[in-house]
Amino acid sequence: MAGAYDDRDGKIWMDGKLVDWREANVHILTHALHYASSVFEGERCYSGKIFKGHEHSLRLIESARLLDMTSPYTAEEIDRAKEEVLNANGFKDAYVRAVMWRGSGDDMGVSARRNPVRMAVAAWEWGSYYGDAKWQGAKLDIAKWKRPSPETIPTAAKAAGLYMICTMSKHAAEAKGCSDALFMDWEGYVAEATGANIFFVKDGEVHTPLADRFLNGITRQTVIQMLKDNGVAVHERRIKPEELDDFQECWLTGTAAEVTPVGQIGDWHFQVGPVTRKVAEDYEQLVRA
Ligand SMILES: Cc1ncc(COP(=O)(O)O)c(C=O)c1O
Repeated sequence: MAGAYDDRDGKIWMDGKLVDWREANVHILTHALHYASSVFEGERCYSGKIFKGHEHSLRLIESARLLDMTSPYTAEEIDRAKEEVLNANGFKDAYVRAVMWRGSGDDMGVSARRNPVRMAVAAWEWGSYYGDAKWQGAKLDIAKWKRPSPETIPTAAKAAGLYMICTMSKHAAEAKGCSDALFMDWEGYVAEATGANIFFVKDGEVHTPLADRFLNGITRQTVIQMLKDNGVAVHERRIKPEELDDFQECWLTGTAAEVTPVGQIGDWHFQVGPVTRKVAEDYEQLVRA
């Protein structure tokens, strides 16, 4: 299966039933398309099992709630929808995308209470997010945009509107030959990449930005626990950009990115060192356990 994402064979789950891939469409007057009233999940299925699938279902419902939308489905129903999609398409190793949005209805202004909340789940085979760059260490640009304050937008939600600056920053990064961009937050601290959290190593200890102002990734939480279980000190704290001078290793975490070593951020260089290698290997084993 290949080609444009709207022109493939297979099945997509939409509002409670499986439909043909090419028929999984919405009307042009869908509220989400105009006002970003949409939340989503990215998950990976390894050898037939979605890693932390139920946690992703719960996060989807919570993201919807943060955007004033009530999920029409329970987490268990969402879990089943994802299974149905994987089975219908015969996938064992795949990326799973669940999306919940305000559809079209009686409202077409900003207010949207009368429009139904809808949901779909699609899955596709997706390899390494950063392609061949993964093991050489990804090269990151520094985004000109800043992660917004939680007083500006619900930053804990995995909401479509938060990705507008991610797309623009990633385009700018790619134009410079980088595979991603690192954001600072609105106060100037190191935040995260366009679709992944970030970790640094200094003298064998791990430092990562406190995730109270951007998505606290499920992979991030998994990796922190893994490191702690291995006796590695992890410091979740505010990190200033100038501290990058002193960090020896760096990696990104995310469902799509998994554990991706970082070789360069702007003019800062990092080794793909022993802590990074071990964490990447341990994560690889864990998701397939
Ligand atoms: C902006 C952003 N931050 C962090 C993450 C990592 O989250 P997770 O590990 O739950 O996939 C993602 C990926 O979904 C993301 O899009």
